[in-house]
Amino acid sequence: MTVSDPISDAAGAPSEAQRDLEAQRDLETARERVDELRGLIRYHDHRYHTLAQPEIGDSQYDELRRELIDLETRFPELITPDSPTQRVAGEPSVEFDSVEHRDPMLSLSNVFGREELTKWHERVVRLLEHDDFGFVCEPKIDGLAISLIYENGSFAIGATRGDGYRGENITPNLRTIDAIPLKLLLPDPPQGMEVRGEVYMSKAEFARLNAERAEAGEQLYINPRNTAAGSLRQLDPKVTASRGLDLFVYQLGWLDGTPPPERHSEAMAWLKDAGFPINPLAQRFDTVEEVAAFCEQWEERRDELEYEIDGVVIKIDSLELQRQLGTVGRDPRWATAWKFPAEQAVTYLKDIAVSVGRTGVLTPFAVLEPVFVGGAMVGMATLHNLAHIQELDIRAKDDVIVQRAGDVIPQVVGPVLSRRAGRRLRKFKMPEVCPVCGTPVQHDPEQAAYYCPNRDCPVQIARTLEHYTGRGALDIEGFGETLSWRLVELGFVETLSDLYALPNRREELLELDGIGEKTLDRLFANLEASKRQPLHRLLIGLSIRHVGGETARALALNFGNMETLRNASAEEIEAIDGIGPIVAEAVHEHFQDEQNAALVDRLIAAGVRMDEDVSARGGPFEGMSIVATGSLSRWSRNEIENLVKRLGGRFAGAVSKKTAFVLAGDGGGSKREKAETLGVEVIDEDEFVERYAEWLD
Ligand code: IVH
Repeated sequence: MTVSDPISDAAGAPSEAQRDLEAQRDLETARERVDELRGLIRYHDHRYHTLAQPEIGDSQYDELRRELIDLETRFPELITPDSPTQRVAGEPSVEFDSVEHRDPMLSLSNVFGREELTKWHERVVRLLEHDDFGFVCEPKIDGLAISLIYENGSFAIGATRGDGYRGENITPNLRTIDAIPLKLLLPDPPQGMEVRGEVYMSKAEFARLNAERAEAGEQLYINPRNTAAGSLRQLDPKVTASRGLDLFVYQLGWLDGTPPPERHSEAMAWLKDAGFPINPLAQRFDTVEEVAAFCEQWEERRDELEYEIDGVVIKIDSLELQRQLGTVGRDPRWATAWKFPAEQAVTYLKDIAVSVGRTGVLTPFAVLEPVFVGGAMVGMATLHNLAHIQELDIRAKDDVIVQRAGDVIPQVVGPVLSRRAGRRLRKFKMPEVCPVCGTPVQHDPEQAAYYCPNRDCPVQIARTLEHYTGRGALDIEGFGETLSWRLVELGFVETLSDLYALPNRREELLELDGIGEKTLDRLFANLEASKRQPLHRLLIGLSIRHVGGETARALALNFGNMETLRNASAEEIEAIDGIGPIVAEAVHEHFQDEQNAALVDRLIAAGVRMDEDVSARGGPFEGMSIVATGSLSRWSRNEIENLVKRLGGRFAGAVSKKTAFVLAGDGGGSKREKAETLGVEVIDEDEFVERYAEWLD
């Protein structure tokens, strides 16, 4: 109960009725502003999430949201469920309710390649008795199908596909996904409608999440799709909200109270205006040849996308023709999926073996039951190191998921734990002795490496030889892995300098299988030519710890010749720009070692060049302006900038006609496009490394 205050009443304070009126007016003003703010926020959300063309900066956007939250706090009666502030995660549920889909959520037939596409097309032509129709093609997102229902323009119910007829009501979870509009941007929204789309997790978000889990010592997620599925079906919407899920809408379902569009492409344009994210790569075509070209193009380029796709969906554009064609079983006849070869497959891990590298480091690798994945048979895959195996908990005799995308080397993604159930599999241990020469293995905790300390271990010699003759080093064509191995195995080469004595053993070599006069002549000519390579190439070839292309170049340019370099102290070496104490110490130690010193003497005796043309100072990027975009896997932004500068180039922030090339990592959007319109070359990281290998560490 309120007690009236006689003093303020006497002072002529507003009466209760007056106060009510003012409050009413405030509320009305607030309501107007709240509506305005919501409209603005929805508009900018759409520009940001759907069109990827934001008009305002983050701070301006935050300002709008803050004002809205402020007003809604003061006037809670103005809060509506479709307000942009209501995207907060609600309370956890115990289980999901089930929802019946008004129209079943179908699946798609598949085609693999042109021939099967043509057959699908021929059947459509036969059924329709004409071929006068266009197609819409769009990437087939590897995520989860969802159905979203809007009532009078507001998001009402969202569900999973389930068995196609009944799904789970996951509305609270879907509300946390920023890309799902809570209110349509249409002045006159339909009474009711359903849209369908695919929720997915981007590759970057997946990587971020896994990095976080690795840090926390938690089991890593296997792939973006499964992680997205798990994230959507969380009983606690807060978990879903933390997972950075995204969406593309690919179909207009049913529509009440508004005349339906005539074409799928029209429906998509309308949905885009309504605020839904539509895949910008979708394209309409008139001929099946164009369709095939589009599919092949994306099969080739799938790795460029920020999300995983497993094919291209091809739909007949006309909705009337779609209706005429209808459905067989669960697959519509008016659409099909051009499927890409699977990039992941499950196979049996027969064993975990260990290989020995050039420097004696032991690298575990998977011996797999060969499986066809990413367009190739995979029978082996690196497992990197012990820590990696422990992190993923991979054990011999597990069923494992193998991944091979594009040209990337095959990876073991992880074990299928459900298939391990009940079997006792032993954890992997590093061998105690070198699998090749039997020398006890040593452990270097600092480098987290296990290695064979025996430098006369035949694998180390063969790998050193392979490296010495390789492209970044002395570049002696004809010495591949196989020949290197044979030469070491048969005792022709025990140390690098033996290479130059090979011409004296011509007759013996001719007795080997597959080696004829011509092969030898070519090999010896290449060997002779390699003696004229500049010092930095030789330094790369010598397998000095921590010395790659860039360091080798710096050493060669600064010291000019081998004699000065091998007599330099660690301090003198460290004085070179870009060389730190660890590298300097390693270089100094290398030349102090008796065995290494003797090798250099023998190479000198064999006539190998020992100096550098010092006038060729600078780097491969001299006079070049280089731009980097997207996220690179090998270098941070800072590192790549320093690298470009160190090699003589200018690191530019924007693409222009003068840009020499754009180095593009994952997700480099606008700079890549700019380069393409200007005709500036865009190269990826692998290409960059390939081209400048001799300069890189
Ligand atoms: S259209 C009648 N378009 O693929 C089915 N589906 O195998 C119409 N999918 O359950 C589906 N991206 O989850 C269509 N751009 C796309 C798609 C797509 C992914 C999924 C969808 C569907 C499954 C069919």
